Amino acid sequence: MERRYISLQVRIICAILFFSVVPLVILGTSIYYEFYRSYTRQVTDYLRSILEDRKHALDLFFQERIAQLTTVAYTHSLEQLRNEEYLEYIFRLMQGKSQFYIDLGVIDQNGNHLAYCGPYKLRGVNYSKALWFREVMRRGIYISDVFMGFRQYPHFIVAVSRHEKGSWWILRATINTDFFESLIKTAQIGRGGDAFLLNEAGVYQTTPRFQGKLLDAIPGFRWPHFRGTRVAEMNFRGRTSLVGTTWLKTVPWLLVIATDLSEELKPLHQAGRLSLVIGIGGVLLVFLGAFTVSRIMINQLIAAEREKEALDASLLQSSKMMALGRLAAGIAHEINNPLSVIKEKAGWLKDLLEEEDIALSRNFQEFAEAVEKIEYHVDRARTVTHRLLGFARRMEPFQESVDVNKILEESLSFIENEALHRNIKILRSFDPKMPFITTDPSQLQQVFLNLLNNALDAVDRNGTIWVDTYYNHLREEVVIQISDSGPGIPESIIDRIFDPFVTTKALGKGTGLGLSITYSIVQKLGGWITAENSREEDKGAVFTVVLPAKARL
Ligand SMILES: Nc1ncnc2c1ncn2[C@@H]1O[C@H](COP(=O)(O)OP(=O)(O)OP(=O)(O)O)[C@@H](O)[C@H]1O
Ligand SMILES: [Mg+2]
Repeated sequence: MERRYISLQVRIICAILFFSVVPLVILGTSIYYEFYRSYTRQVTDYLRSILEDRKHALDLFFQERIAQLTTVAYTHSLEQLRNEEYLEYIFRLMQGKSQFYIDLGVIDQNGNHLAYCGPYKLRGVNYSKALWFREVMRRGIYISDVFMGFRQYPHFIVAVSRHEKGSWWILRATINTDFFESLIKTAQIGRGGDAFLLNEAGVYQTTPRFQGKLLDAIPGFRWPHFRGTRVAEMNFRGRTSLVGTTWLKTVPWLLVIATDLSEELKPLHQAGRLSLVIGIGGVLLVFLGAFTVSRIMINQLIAAEREKEALDASLLQSSKMMALGRLAAGIAHEINNPLSVIKEKAGWLKDLLEEEDIALSRNFQEFAEAVEKIEYHVDRARTVTHRLLGFARRMEPFQESVDVNKILEESLSFIENEALHRNIKILRSFDPKMPFITTDPSQLQQVFLNLLNNALDAVDRNGTIWVDTYYNHLREEVVIQISDSGPGIPESIIDRIFDPFVTTKALGKGTGLGLSITYSIVQKLGGWITAENSREEDKGAVFTVVLPAKARL
C-alpha cells in the first residue's frame, strides 16, 4: 500500500481512538471518583455511628455505676455500712445486678478503711496519701484510670463521698474492665480495623488489637478535648485509615476507632480494576473496529481512484480520437476528390495507350507500367481515405438481440481458410451459458475481424489463436478474449496501440487504423477493450473485449 494511504489510515485510526477513548477515560475517572466519594462518606458515616453508639454505652455504664454507689451511700448511714455483714449483703445485692464488681469498701475522712468485703485483705489500710482518695474528697465522685492491682487483672475504682453528721465518709468499689473491653472489641471493624480507649496521657485503657498493649503509653500523645465525634483520613500505623475519635463524657478518656481504608475500599478497587480491564478491552475493540473500517474505506478509495484513472485515460483516448477523427474525415474528404480525378485521368491515359499508335512507341512499356502504378497507389490512397471516413462517421449502433458466440463463429469462418493455409490452429473455448446481449451485430463482427486479422498477421505461420468467451454473472458482462502465439505487442507502441496510424507493419501493408476503429466501436457499444502481453511463455498479445449484457446505451 502507498505511504499516503498508510498515513491516512493512521490518521483515521487516531481520530477514532481519540474521540472514543477520551470520553471513555473521562467517564471512567469521574464515575470512579464519585464512587470513591460516596463510598468513603458511607464508611465515615458508619464509623461515626459506631463511635457514638459505643460512647453512649460506655458513658451509660459509668453513670450507672456512679448512680448505684450514690444510691447505696445515700440510702444507708455510715453506721449501717461499717457493719461488714451488712456491707457484704449490699455487695451481693449489687453483684446480683452486675458481675463487674470486685470489692466494696467504706473509708472515713482520714483515709482509714473502716469496712471491706472482697478478695483482698485491705481492712485497716490508710489511703490518705492515695491520689484517688484526695480526688474523691475534692470532687465528691471519682472514677480512676485502669490499673492492674494485686490480682494482675485490669480494673478501676469508682468512689463517692457523703457528708453525714459533720464528717465525710467514702464508699468505694473496684470494678473490672470486662464490660468495656468486650464492648470495644466489637468495634474493631474488618481485618485491619482497631478500637481502644486512651486516657489523657495516651495510656491504653483497653487492649488494642495491633501494636502495644493495655496500660502502654503512646509516646508524645497529645489530643485536644472537643465535643462530639471527629472522623478524619490519616496515616495510622503506616496505613491510610479513617480514624474516628470522641471524648467520653463521664471520664476523660478518648475512644478511638480506626478502619483500614484500603480494606474498606477493596470492593471499589476491585470494581475499578475490572472496569479498567473492560476499558482496555473496549479500547482494543475500538482499535480493531477502526482498523477494519479504515481498511475498508481505504480499499474503496483505492478502487475509486483506480477507476477514475482508467476513466480519465479512456476519456483522454476518446477525445483524442474525436479530434483526430474529425481531422481525418476532413483530410480524407479533401483528398478523395483529387484522387477520383487522378484515377479517372489514369483510366483515360490507359484507354489512350490502347487506342493510339503509341503502342508502337519505344517507351510504351514504361508508360503502361507508370499508369498501372498510378492506379495502384490511387487505390491504396482511396482505401485509406475510405477507412478514415468510416472511422470518423457517426455510427449509430443498430440494436438487436445477439448471440456473441455465434457472431464470433461467423467471424472465424472468414479467416478459417487463411488460417488453415498458414497452419494456424484456432482453439475455441466458448461459455455455453452465454446470454443474448443487445448490441449491433455487424459492428461487433468488424471488431472481431480486426482482432482476428491482427492475430493472423502476428502469428504469420505455424501457431495458435485462442478465442475465449465467458459470462461474468456478478457484473453482468460478456467477456471475449482473443490471444495468439505471436511475438506480442512491441513495448514501444503498447501505450498508444489504440491511436490511429500506429502500425509496425511495412509500408502499404497496414494503415494502423484497425485498432483505433475497433476501440471506438467497442466504446460506442458501451464496453471497453484492453491490450496486453500474456505472461505465459508461448502466448503473445491478449486482447480483451468487455460488453455489457444489457444495453447501457
Ligand atoms: N495480435 C497482435 N500481436 C502483436 N502486435 C499486434 C497485434 N495486433 C496489433 N498489433 C500491433 O498493433 C499495430 C496496430 O494495429 P492495427 O490493427 O491498428 O493496425 P495494422 O494492423 O497495423 O493495420 P490495419 O489494421 O489497418 O491493416 C500493429 O501494426 C501491430 O504492431
Ligand atoms: Mg490491423
